Amino acid sequence: MDNRERFLNARRIIFVACGTSWHASLIGEYLIEDFCRIPVEVEYASEFRYRNPVIYPDDIVIAVSQSGETADTLAAIELAKQNGAFVYGICNVIGSSIARATDSGTYIHVGPEIGVASTKAFTGQVTVLTMLALMIARVKGTIDQECSRKIAKHLLDLPAVLEEVLRLNDRIADFSKIFTYAHNFIYLGRGYNYPTALEGALKLKEISYIHAEAYAAGELKHGTIALITDHVPVIAIATQKHIFAKTISNIREVKARGAYVVLLVTEDTAVDEGIADVIIRIPKEDDKFTVFPIAVVLQLIAYYASVQKGLDVDQPRNLAKSVTVE
Ligand code: AGP
Repeated sequence: MDNRERFLNARRIIFVACGTSWHASLIGEYLIEDFCRIPVEVEYASEFRYRNPVIYPDDIVIAVSQSGETADTLAAIELAKQNGAFVYGICNVIGSSIARATDSGTYIHVGPEIGVASTKAFTGQVTVLTMLALMIARVKGTIDQECSRKIAKHLLDLPAVLEEVLRLNDRIADFSKIFTYAHNFIYLGRGYNYPTALEGALKLKEISYIHAEAYAAGELKHGTIALITDHVPVIAIATQKHIFAKTISNIREVKARGAYVVLLVTEDTAVDEGIADVIIRIPKEDDKFTVFPIAVVLQLIAYYASVQKGLDVDQPRNLAKSVTVE
């Protein structure tokens, strides 16, 4: 069976990954379920390898890894292979152990990542996952030509969109200065931007050592709202048109409890200026594609929080670029 047939006949797709690659995989889940109507699961490789998971021979396991050397992801691949699944790799480092251990795969080709924190790998992984979802959907006939063309155009336009986002650099540097007072941050997102919020929180923790957690905005009322005070800044992403009003009502709740709110919306969104302390407007995009500009804004926030604290952005304490041991 060739790759195309395998993806066409897949009973299920299971992602195995760690850290940032796990966040990118969550976006992969949303994309593949949305475009291709194939059920998807996303597993922490470190859990998957030790929990006796059900794996069918007609499952496709996709291992996502920047370095291609992550020990847990490699072990998850071995387990998937022992159970007869087809394993597809999405790696950055050419010729890496994961690239060699998988049955087939794609390189993201973003060039070497020098800093410990994954940055361009995240957007590279999401780009490849969008292309993969698009290809499967085309072959399966789950999206029409018009939609397929639109997605391809969005991908082609991305470099220009990201250049526009980089123009926000000075503004982000400016308000990020105030964050040195905060010991805790909350990130809120929904849908495609829930994983982006998780990724933004990880970046802040990793390079600025400020504790941060991300939540799906709808979960706020189920406990997290108890954490909100005027010392807990909230970074809120509200890019989804169909649930925009609901997200805004979540933001009103945190604002009413004194939080300093940074709101990220698309430039075509009308919002009451009083709802947030800072409003960042990213280029108008379909919600799934806002993941890219939002990821860059969140990376810049973490970067400036780190710089402001006088930390080494590229070499954060306690961390290695590749986690080759357990
Ligand atoms: C991300 O900034 C981290 N350095 C970390 O979470 C990383 O994504 C994780 O260790 C997985 O690495 P990999 O993509 O090389 O497998």
